[in-house]
Order: sequence, then C-alpha cells, then structure tokens
Amino acid sequence: MGLNAGFTRCCAILQLVCLVGRTGPSHGFTGSSDGVKFGGPPRLVASKNYQLTTTNYQLEPYLRRMTKLLDGKVALITGASKGIGRAIAAHFAQLGANVAFTYLSSVEKGQQLEQELAAHGTKIKGFRSDASDYAQAEKLVEDVVAEFGKLDILVNNAGITMDGLLMRMSEQQWDQVLAVNLKSVFNLTKAATKPMMRAKAGSIINMTSVVGIKGNAGQANYAASKAGIIGFTKSVALELGSRNIRCNAIAPGFIETEMTGELDQKVVDEWRKAIPLKRGGTPEDVAKATAFLASDDSSYISGQVLQVDGGMLT
Ligand SMILES: NC(=O)c1ccc[n+]([C@@H]2O[C@H](COP(=O)([O-])OP(=O)(O)OC[C@H]3O[C@@H](n4cnc5c(N)ncnc54)[C@H](OP(=O)(O)O)[C@@H]3O)[C@@H](O)[C@H]2O)c1
Repeated sequence: MGLNAGFTRCCAILQLVCLVGRTGPSHGFTGSSDGVKFGGPPRLVASKNYQLTTTNYQLEPYLRRMTKLLDGKVALITGASKGIGRAIAAHFAQLGANVAFTYLSSVEKGQQLEQELAAHGTKIKGFRSDASDYAQAEKLVEDVVAEFGKLDILVNNAGITMDGLLMRMSEQQWDQVLAVNLKSVFNLTKAATKPMMRAKAGSIINMTSVVGIKGNAGQANYAASKAGIIGFTKSVALELGSRNIRCNAIAPGFIETEMTGELDQKVVDEWRKAIPLKRGGTPEDVAKATAFLASDDSSYISGQVLQVDGGMLT
C-alpha cells in the first residue's frame, strides 16, 4: 500500500472510530452483527457495512485469537491443586488448552479441580505425582502423551518453602526444598523434551521467584533453589533453541496464596507497602503472564526471566 493510500485508510478508520465514539460509551469492542460482544466502555462498533481492517490488522480474527490463545495446545502444569498452579490450569483451560496437571498431598482439591475445569469443554486430567521423583516424572510425561497425544507446554510450578535462618537450617530442610523446587524442574524438563524434540516445538516455563534474584534472609534453601532454576532455564534455552523449544522463567513477587498466607499480618503489610503497585499479586496475575509465554505470541522469546512483582525489584 502506497503512503497516500495508507494515510487515507487510516483517516477513514479514525473517522469511523470518532463517529462511533460519539454514540457509544467509552472503551472496549463490540462487533455488532457478527455476534462478538465485549463489555465495558469505550465502544467500537463494527457492523457488516464497515470492515475494520488494514493490510496487516484484522479485528475479528485478533479478538478470536485473544480469547482462545491456547486453542488445541496440550499443557502439563505441576502443583496445580492450589495457588498459582491452580490459577494457571484454570486460565489455560479458559484459553482453549487441554490441561494435564499434578498434585501430591491435596488429593481432594486435585480431583475437584479436574471436575471444575471440565466445564470449559477441553480435555482435563489430574495426576497424582511427586515432581521431585525422577521415575515418577518420566512416567507422568509418558502417561500425558499417551492420553493427550502430544505435549506442547510444560509449566514447572510445584514448589515448597521450609524457612529458617542458616544457623538453624537442617540438612533435611535443605535437601527437601532443593529436591521439590529444583530437581523437579530437571526431572520434568528432561522427560518433556523427548516429545517436544520429536514435534520440533515446545514451550517450557519454570516458576522461579524474586527471592532467586535478590536472596532473602531465612530462605537460603528456597533462594538457592530458585536461583538454580534461572541458570537451568537459560542453559536449556541455549541447548534447545535450535529444536524450536523455548524455555523461560517467571519470577513472581509477593503473590497472595496459601504459601504466603502462613506469614504474619505485619510482614504482609510491610511487603505490600514496599511494592510500587501497593498490593500483593494475585495467582491470576501470574497465570496471565504464563499464558503469554506458553502461547505462540511469545514465539521469539526464550531464556528470559519475566518478573511479575508489581515493580518490587525495580
Ligand atoms: N506465592 C508467592 O508469593 C510466590 C512467589 C514467588 C514464587 N512462587 C512460586 O510459585 C509456585 C507456586 O506457589 P504457590 O504460592 O501457589 O504455592 P502453594 O499454594 O503452596 O502450592 C504449591 C503447589 O505445589 C504442589 N507441590 C508441592 N510439592 C509437590 C511435589 N513434590 N510434587 C508435585 N506437586 C507438589 C502442591 O500440591 P499438593 O498440595 O497437592 O502437595 C501445590 O499444588 C512455587 O514454585 C513457588 O515457589 C510463589
């Protein structure tokens, strides 16, 4: 399209937007006769008489893609019985993904989640599996591929804390946190890369933490495990990029879940005050960032650590 033609087309679209802006409330999109309705102000109305398109941008397919960002993908999420993992599983199912997820001790919650997510109309299955156990992780991935036919996305989310100052930290506290938080990421990633390499595609997302970047008194074991995840993520991105397998990490800040629910109210208030956005994050905040890294919208992003922390480390 020539410059003049492009300019004329932009003007026509702007005129249409202004015209519609005068009649409707202030935000959001409504495709009137195509039956696509998104609530909220301002409002942009596209009737059959107007085609809101430019050469590179088509509104209707864009909206469809945004609502079903993970359509047809198969995702495996570890530790989804509660908290962040649960929100990721729910968000992925909502975005059209077929979801396999794991739990360990919260059996009832895991089974309940499987039933709840079935309402989205995609294939959902919960597996009871210990992510820190190498053999169980291998078997889990085999079972998921047998059941779902492929594996596009792996989210290594399972994690625990066993806090204490170094002077008082036992060998067991160290070993267990490292096994559940870091060894699990090795276990699942190694197993998942087999089907991903066959498919020459995959997205792996590892849940680290701002604590893995900054450190935290009383969490030497947890911080070490999360810092280890960052090194692992970058190495896997370097090793598997040529196979079209991407590997990224998400570093949540203070996210209000059962894990942080154990903290003293005073500590929670201090955390909130120190965050530029002045609130703790929600599991859904993390789920949305995870969906982006899982989707083809991030197809040129690998080896990165995305902080979802309300600006905490800025
Ligand atoms: N909340 C935060 O502020 C925050 C901040 C930064 C990073 N993170 C990270 O985000 C992830 C999720 O945290 P969260 O706050 O949602 O924690 P959470 O509410 O305590 O949930 C942890 C999940 O991990 C599962 N899990 C624990 N050990 C497991 C194992 N060996 N095998 C399989 N699953 C296991 C639990 O399943 P069962 O209950 O069934 O055992 C549960 O579903 C963790 O990696 C955490 O380190 C959280």
